[in-house]
Amino acid sequence: MPGMRLKIVADYEELGREAARLVARQILLKEDSVLGLPTGETPIGMYRELVRMSREGLLNFSKVITFNLDEYVSLEPSHPQSFHHYMQVHLFGHLAIPPEQIHIPDGTAADLEEECQRYEEEIARHGGIDLLVLGLGLNGHIGFNEPGSDWGTMTRLVVLSEETRRREAGRFGGLDLVPTQAITMGIKTIMRARRLLLLASGEEKAGIVREVLQGPIVKEVPASILQLHPDATMILDAAAASKLNLCRVGGASAGRPRTPG
Ligand code: GLP
Repeated sequence: MPGMRLKIVADYEELGREAARLVARQILLKEDSVLGLPTGETPIGMYRELVRMSREGLLNFSKVITFNLDEYVSLEPSHPQSFHHYMQVHLFGHLAIPPEQIHIPDGTAADLEEECQRYEEEIARHGGIDLLVLGLGLNGHIGFNEPGSDWGTMTRLVVLSEETRRREAGRFGGLDLVPTQAITMGIKTIMRARRLLLLASGEEKAGIVREVLQGPIVKEVPASILQLHPDATMILDAAAASKLNLCRVGGASAGRPRTPG
């Protein structure tokens, strides 16, 4: 069985374009694809490119179904740091996609446990996720599955790690303003997606990228489980790939870093 496919590109811009090409191929193959989508800085370039493709008539999102990976608990959708708001700004606000085809966990639901269950059922009702795009947390988290998360977890309520909250403190205007909980797809929800696309950019991710791809599969590095997914691709820019031992990427086909032009 093939290991995780690895593609190394020159820089952030190329990462965005390459990721968008993979998503575009999925949509062209199946117009009613079910996509899983991430937030964070990493996928912004990909979203920009998808918006361009859609504007130029290359891609049609009108039948696409989307499920976001996660959302903070207690933030209203209009809150500037909510993932609802992020998705509107970077993607949905620029696409002709019917709102009922967009799914993001509701962190303001009266019954959060019920919301998690409803979300998981909704994914199943749509036949599961065809392609799930993931960013990578500095501590190896995927979605908000923090280190120590059980492999068998489904969509659930989680407590955010101190490290994750500190990283977000600037954006929220202080650590106290960062929510302490989130709703996230679980590791099992993620592993059930038929195809996975993991993205990482920049030197600060180089250490964790090496652990994820070349380290043991351990709960302390949640993304390391992706080594076992039968159809996973990781796209890295050269900086994020800089600590990899390219002679021993297990089963992966490592492309050479490309220079633009
Ligand atoms: C957040 C999100 C993750 C994302 C991670 C990395 O914690 N919940 O889904 O992958 O941040 O973000 P960035 O791309 O900004 O490094």
